[in-house]
Amino acid sequence: MAIQATQTANAQGAQRLVILGTGGTIAGRAAQAGDNVGYVAGQVSVGDLVAAVPMLKDLLLDVEQVAQLDSKDMDFAVWKALAERVAFHLERPDVKGVVITHGTDTMEETAFFLQSVLKPTKPVVLTCAMRPATALVPDGPQNLSDAVVVARHVGAQGVTVVCAGQVHGADDVTKVHTYRLDAFDSGDAGPLGCVEEGVVRLFRPWPTGSVEGLLDTTVRDRVQASLALPRVVLLTSHADTDGLVVQALLAQSSSGAAQPLRGIVVAGTGNGTLHKHLEAALLEAQAQGIRVVLTSRCVRGRVLAHPGLRLSEVSPLSPVKSRIALALDLLTS
Ligand code: SIN
Repeated sequence: MAIQATQTANAQGAQRLVILGTGGTIAGRAAQAGDNVGYVAGQVSVGDLVAAVPMLKDLLLDVEQVAQLDSKDMDFAVWKALAERVAFHLERPDVKGVVITHGTDTMEETAFFLQSVLKPTKPVVLTCAMRPATALVPDGPQNLSDAVVVARHVGAQGVTVVCAGQVHGADDVTKVHTYRLDAFDSGDAGPLGCVEEGVVRLFRPWPTGSVEGLLDTTVRDRVQASLALPRVVLLTSHADTDGLVVQALLAQSSSGAAQPLRGIVVAGTGNGTLHKHLEAALLEAQAQGIRVVLTSRCVRGRVLAHPGLRLSEVSPLSPVKSRIALALDLLTS
């Protein structure tokens, strides 16, 4: 069966899709078919994942394995390789879009990284599974099929995440459940749309691409030229905490660490409040020239300006995405 052609095919434009594999549960294998949690992620090749989805067989596809890992171990080297491969394929005139198979655990971070670095005006769709490829009823094949539908949709652009029939934007998406198949949520913003029987239903606009063209070459070039992102750590304020971790980081940095501390993102309680001992240490870090960015550990809402705010920078993004945003800002400024 071919994927519904009415909305997705563009007779005049490029039709080829590229599917890049990076591992994850979608490529996971368990010893027993009924085991949905005791498996090893990143075992099945992306070629085999694609071959397992009959709806993809008549499409023009290029398939490439960029990495094969459990996404909890995602790092800058893989992000760099992925950004380079995505950029390469998007620049091909015959390519309509790119789909990436990925683990769920850090997928929102990879999506945000790619959106920030590439700002693509073609679709880049990350997808995943909550059950391994060997499950009795795996969710990966449907997710992969839906992701392809999104990548073929006329007008689709930017980096999105497709899981359990929902389409999420890279800036808003967060993994919110440890087990359920619909593990992702876009918070107050809500999903961008959904995929129903091979058709995209859009609720709001696609993530915005670069105004300069296909790629934001400054950020991309800086990323490709770097061995690591500037060191930014993520801390959480909580009851019964202190400033010892911050003080230790400052001491280590001033004693000539190979990769000096450049920034701290702190996930505050509620509307960005901080334990007084942690706040004192963070103000000291700020005074020493470390960029300190405040966000909230609440899964919904964002930090709103209020008289009690003493840190100079606030981010509306989730803590993990604020960390990437600060590291990229430090890299390019
Ligand atoms: C991973 O993130 O690679 C493992 C977990 C998952 O994909 O659900």
